[in-house]
Amino acid sequence: MSDRNEFLHKYGPVALVTGASAGIGGSFAEALAARGFNLVLAARRREMEEQARQLEARHGVRVTVCQSDLTEASAVPHILAATAALDIGLVVSNAGYGFRGDHASHDPADLTGMMMVNCLAPMLLAHGFTPRLRARGRGGIIFTSSVEALLGMPGSAAYAASKGFVNRLGEGLWAELRPDNIDVLTLCPGATATDALRRAGMNAATTPNVQSPDEVARLALENIANGPVYLSNPHYEAMFKQLLAMPPREALTAMAGAQKK
Ligand SMILES: NC(=O)c1ccc[n+]([C@@H]2O[C@H](COP(=O)([O-])OP(=O)(O)OC[C@H]3O[C@@H](n4cnc5c(N)ncnc54)[C@H](OP(=O)(O)O)[C@@H]3O)[C@@H](O)[C@H]2O)c1
Repeated sequence: MSDRNEFLHKYGPVALVTGASAGIGGSFAEALAARGFNLVLAARRREMEEQARQLEARHGVRVTVCQSDLTEASAVPHILAATAALDIGLVVSNAGYGFRGDHASHDPADLTGMMMVNCLAPMLLAHGFTPRLRARGRGGIIFTSSVEALLGMPGSAAYAASKGFVNRLGEGLWAELRPDNIDVLTLCPGATATDALRRAGMNAATTPNVQSPDEVARLALENIANGPVYLSNPHYEAMFKQLLAMPPREALTAMAGAQKK
């Protein structure tokens, strides 16, 4: 079997991508369609219908849309029900976002919504899909986390904490599902040129060491069997290696100082 066919055999024929309407999730959808996967795209935007038709036309695959708002408790049960008849072999739990700035300045309702999307949704999706993946004897789960998961982050405290949750979840499931031939990869991107970067007030053109979402998605798929945790950006990998070698008080104080510059 060719590498492409082997990949499709293990993780196909259908992949679910959350946060598929833009950014890294959009790139996952494109890359998986190019590898011959049928797809379920999940996010809020109505424009996903047009995105689905374009993916079908470009790659000759079948793409369905599951419009869902992951801040709502009904969203994960809705996705599980809508995909019940599909042979999903790969779950890409990618939707997420953060807020920058002083923790006390954020609206509690916004913080709660972020935790629903970043933490509860990936945890409940994994809970719902694990028996289905086990029953088929092969498959994978990719969680999009962040390098911010690796250490507390002044100026991004709740987002970093939410991604810390994702890393611990992914690590545990990696070991739990290995005997079932299910690969779990927790992807930790650094700065990536998406709308999220723009919303954080950064300009992709002038920020050093930014990766494109296409590169992040491609590297994650190439490294799906190299879990539990995968840092896609070598610059951030080196930076966090240094930070994690420091006493936490020093590392956190240095980061707080860098934020003020
Ligand atoms: N960009 C970076 O620098 C960076 C770095 C590290 C980690 N990450 C992580 O990478 C992942 C993707 O981020 P991105 O940079 O690609 O951001 P993005 O371009 O803003 O895309 C975010 C995706 O999440 C979906 N989403 C947001 N809120 C949602 C909700 N309430 N319900 C359902 N879907 C929702 C959005 O779709 P709709 O708006 O259509 O709902 C969109 O498809 C996130 O988990 C993020 O934390 C990004």
